[in-house]
Amino acid sequence: TADKLRSCSQTFVSIGIGGSYLGSRAAIEMLPSASPEIYFAGNNISGTYLKSIIDNIENKDFSVCVISKSGTTLETALAFRVFREILEKKYGKTEARNRIIAVTDSSKGALLDIAKKEGYEIFEIPGNIGGRYSVLTPAALVTMAVAGIDIRKVLKGAEEAYHAYNNPDLVQNDCYMYSVLRNILYKKGKYIETLVNYEPCMEYFGKWWQQLFGESEGKDGKGIYPALLQFSTDLHSMGQYLQEGTRNVFETIIKIDNPPEDVIIPYIEDDLDGLNYLAGKTFNYINKEAYEGVKEAHEEGGTPIISIEIPSIDEHCFGHLVYFMEKACAASGYLLGVNPFDQPGVELYKKNIYRLLKR
Ligand code: PA5
Repeated sequence: TADKLRSCSQTFVSIGIGGSYLGSRAAIEMLPSASPEIYFAGNNISGTYLKSIIDNIENKDFSVCVISKSGTTLETALAFRVFREILEKKYGKTEARNRIIAVTDSSKGALLDIAKKEGYEIFEIPGNIGGRYSVLTPAALVTMAVAGIDIRKVLKGAEEAYHAYNNPDLVQNDCYMYSVLRNILYKKGKYIETLVNYEPCMEYFGKWWQQLFGESEGKDGKGIYPALLQFSTDLHSMGQYLQEGTRNVFETIIKIDNPPEDVIIPYIEDDLDGLNYLAGKTFNYINKEAYEGVKEAHEEGGTPIISIEIPSIDEHCFGHLVYFMEKACAASGYLLGVNPFDQPGVELYKKNIYRLLKR
């Protein structure tokens, strides 16, 4: 399916929100991917945002994947209406049908009804897997495959993690260890966990992680607040707080041992900026030294640090890390005494929106 869509599309619109959006975006931002260019729609209700995507794709060949497990999410359904209409006007109903993929629950929901009636290709999100835990299902895999990511390698990485973190012995199991450490820190008043990374391509992985832990743990008046920081960028905005602010934060750093690309610092004859002592060294080397220096300083300042080291940025590592976090999150929820798989609080705002819109 991905090959078919790639061959007929210069650009591709992936429509979804929350668990039906963040996983695929995390993968696409993190991993090198090929054409077509991917736009993400249906993840907000901004007309300005939507119009800018429409302006960018209108004169190009494009296809759409609409992802909604419930099939009734307002943001997703509204955006899909718009792109479906554009596709049908541009290509006619029959060709539009070939350019629309629906990813949804196998047994119920408005999206399933539409997809069946219109004859769209359908991929199922298994009924027993909640949105934020669905990265390793078609909810994210379809968009990732269209982007040219080798999803078999992603699943292999996850499978490796499944075996690696199956050991019930806590001290042999890094995944449980992470859950327990978070829980101990929470009990000591560290109510904010900030996921820190040194690679900007990990930004959306962070956002996916934030949803995973935020929605899974934040209930019954409990839960660690999951925050995100990008170093060294945010050291110039949040460094002061981390060093000397309220002592209720701990850091979880994702450290990449071998980032895929690098740049060498050039030698310049006049050395007016005084940086020739770094000539010949690489940016990744300096990034690593920054990691060490910051870690030392923050530990001295009383900020506990958990380091998660991953060898590289590739499909395998992505799959492994996703599985690691999903399992750690479930374990964390149970340690906290909450159900990590429900999200009763999300329903209330949806009800209010529908009431105000006079559905
Ligand atoms: O984790 C969750 O359950 C949510 O973030 C959902 O994924 C999000 O609300 C989108 O739901 P749906 O896939 O039903 O459109």
